[in-house]
Amino acid sequence: MSTSRRTFLQYSLTAASMLALGPEALAASSKKGTASAKAKLKLLVLGGTSFLGPAFVNAALARGHTLTLFNRGKTRPTLFPNVEKLQGDRDPKKGEGLKALEGRKWDAVLDTSGYYPRMVKASAELLAPNVGHYVYISSISAYANNDVPYENESGPTAKLADPTVETMGPKYENFGGLKRLCEEAVEAALPDRAALIRPGYIVGPDDPTDRFTYWPVRYARGGEMLAPGTPEDPLQIIDVRDLGEWLVRVVENKLTGVYNTTGPEKPWTMGGLFAACKAATGNKSTKPIWVPAEFLARNGEDGEGDIPIWAPPEGKNKGFHLRSIDKAMKAGLKFRPVSVTVKDTLRYFNSLPEERRNKMRAGLSPEREKALLALWAQEEKPAESSPEPPSKPAKRKKGR
Ligand SMILES: NC(=O)c1ccc[n+]([C@@H]2O[C@H](COP(=O)([O-])OP(=O)(O)OC[C@H]3O[C@@H](n4cnc5c(N)ncnc54)[C@H](OP(=O)(O)O)[C@@H]3O)[C@@H](O)[C@H]2O)c1
Repeated sequence: MSTSRRTFLQYSLTAASMLALGPEALAASSKKGTASAKAKLKLLVLGGTSFLGPAFVNAALARGHTLTLFNRGKTRPTLFPNVEKLQGDRDPKKGEGLKALEGRKWDAVLDTSGYYPRMVKASAELLAPNVGHYVYISSISAYANNDVPYENESGPTAKLADPTVETMGPKYENFGGLKRLCEEAVEAALPDRAALIRPGYIVGPDDPTDRFTYWPVRYARGGEMLAPGTPEDPLQIIDVRDLGEWLVRVVENKLTGVYNTTGPEKPWTMGGLFAACKAATGNKSTKPIWVPAEFLARNGEDGEGDIPIWAPPEGKNKGFHLRSIDKAMKAGLKFRPVSVTVKDTLRYFNSLPEERRNKMRAGLSPEREKALLALWAQEEKPAESSPEPPSKPAKRKKGR
C-alpha cells in the first residue's frame, strides 16, 4: 500500500469514528495522539460554538489548555458542557454587553466573532490590561484587490468610504473593509501583542455555509455536472480543523503580525477537487462538463453568482485563489490531505437531518444547472430549437 493511501485511510478512519463520538471525545482522543503543551494556558474565546470556534476549542483542550467561552448562549448552547461559559454580547450597547469579561485575566484571547470595529475596539480595549495576547480572526477579504497572484501580507488593504458603517451592505461589499478596521482596532489596543489572521474559505465538517460542501454533495448526486472554467483553475481552501490546530500554536508561541491562512500546501485546482470528490464518493457516473468562464459570465455566473467558491482566474480575480501562504507555513501551519477534507465533509453533510439536507445553502439548484448546461450545449452545437433561458442567480454574499 502506498504511503499516501495509508495516510488517507488513517485519517479517514480516525475522523469517521471521532465524528460519531462528538467533539469532546475528539478532544480527549486527540490528547493521546497530540503531545500536551508544556505550559498550560488560560484561553478566552469570544464566540466558540459555531464552526471555527469548536475546532479551536477541541484542539486547545487536546493540548491541555483551559478554556472560557464568551457568547450570547444562542448558538449550540449545549456544546462543551465542561467548559466555562460567560454570557454577554459583543455589542456593549446590548444588554449586559461585555460586563462578564470585566476583572478576569487570561493568557490569550481568540476573537472569532468580531465584525464591526466599534465592538472589536470595545473588547480589545477592555481586555488589553488583562490578556497577554489577542488573536483576531480577520479574512483574506481584508485585501483591497485579488488581481496579483501569490501576493503576500504586504498587499494593499480594503478601505471603506464610511468607517462607521454597521451593515455588510446588500452584496456584502463592506465585509473586507470592516475586517480591516477591526484589525486596526485590535492592533491599536494591543500593539505588538496581536495576531491578525486572514483565512481564505474555511471548509469541512460543520461548515454552516455549504459553499464548499456543495461540490462533494453535487458530485455524489451523479449525472452531468456543471464544472466551471477549466480543470486548471486554481482553488484555495483551509480545513477548519487544520486552522483550529494551528491557532493553538499561534497562542502557544505568542505569534504576532498578519498571516494569510489558506491552503492546501501545494497549489490545487478545480480538476483536483473533482478528482478528490470522485475518490471520496466512488461515483463513476458523474460527468463534469467544463463550461468556459466567458459563457458563465454572460449568464450571471461571474464568480459572484450561484456557483460557489470558484472564481475565474483572470482580471480582478487572477490572484483570488493564489494568495501566498509561505509566512503561515513557516510558522507551522500544516494541512491534512484534501481527500480527507472532502470525505469528512460529505460524511458530515449526510449525517444532517433530511430537512436540512434538502435545503442546500449554496450552489446551483438542479433546475438552474440543467438550464445552463442545456444553453451551453446549444451554443457549442447549435440545434434547431432553443432551450429555455436559465433563471437569474440569486447573487451570493461576497466575502470569505
Ligand atoms: N467561513 C469562512 O469561509 C471564513 C473565511 C474567512 C474568515 N472567516 C472568519 O472566521 C470567523 C469564523 O467564525 P465562526 O462563526 O466559525 O466562529 P465561532 O466562534 O465558531 O462561532 C461564532 C460565535 O460567536 C458568537 N456570537 C455571535 N454573535 C455574538 C454577539 N453579538 N455577542 C457575543 N457572541 C456572539 C456565537 O454564539 P451566540 O450566537 O450564542 O452568541 C458563536 O459562539 C469569522 O470571524 C469569519 O469572518 C470565515
